[in-house]
Amino acid sequence: MSSSITVTAFAKLNLTLDVLGRRPDGYHELASVMQSLELHDVITIQVTDGETEVWCDDPDVPSGRENLVFQALDVLRQSAAFHSGLRVEIAKRIPVAAGLAGGSTDAAQVLLGVNYLLGLGFTVRQLVEMGSRIGSDIPFCLLGGTALACGRGEVLHLLPPPPAFNVVLAKPQLQLSTPRIYRLWDELGCHRPPASASMTAALNSGIRERVLEAMENHLESVVMSEYQEVKELKARLLRLGAEQAILCGSGPTVAAVVPNPETGAGMVEDLTQAGYHAWLTHTLV
Ligand code: C5P
Repeated sequence: MSSSITVTAFAKLNLTLDVLGRRPDGYHELASVMQSLELHDVITIQVTDGETEVWCDDPDVPSGRENLVFQALDVLRQSAAFHSGLRVEIAKRIPVAAGLAGGSTDAAQVLLGVNYLLGLGFTVRQLVEMGSRIGSDIPFCLLGGTALACGRGEVLHLLPPPPAFNVVLAKPQLQLSTPRIYRLWDELGCHRPPASASMTAALNSGIRERVLEAMENHLESVVMSEYQEVKELKARLLRLGAEQAILCGSGPTVAAVVPNPETGAGMVEDLTQAGYHAWLTHTLV
């Protein structure tokens, strides 16, 4: 059996994010149509004789127990007693703390990779259950593609992919706390009509304009009411030629659907000069 494996961990975009209410466990009931983006991290997992180590080439990513990959390995060890050491190396390309599930996708791929490498024999359904204990986006990241995620994110329904979208991601220099954004949603009472059913219908129709119209994130008005920078960024993306622009997860990145890669490349240049971090990517089928 091979003693190392290299896996690709894709970023996630919420095409919709409906917050339906606060649950008794403090989490929020969600309905979200999630989509994989081509932007990805590359992860090498190696079986060793030593301790478990997680290393990332981006100094902003924690390499200790706060790293979701470390937590994923702990959950796996609780479910299957294996004694091998593991060294995980992450080449980070997905922006960190950005609303793109960068940590969750790494954890998901490590669950899949170690399961394969050590022949643990867990089904994807079992890995989804394990992953959901440590992060709400991990279940979707285990499947990838296009899916409606309900509950806390652990109930998944596969959907047809949207027509291919070129996407510009732009991140302001802001650190947002996800728990705080959900608390603000509670305080502000930002109830809005859910958009995921319209998105599901739009995806089933295959009509690009319907998909663009149905894109909505309930956390966007919460974040924009507190952070003028995010509001300005969205307006800037629309001015630069975006067909649609939407907050990613709980922010602070804003994703813009652009008509073609050339327009996207021009936008990335403009945004970089204006002091934002920006990337051009596309949806993954
Ligand atoms: O699961 P995850 O680590 O992504 O969640 C981060 C935080 O976001 C949670 O601790 C919780 O405060 C909030 N959250 C929530 N409802 C969800 C997902 C996340 O309230 N469905």
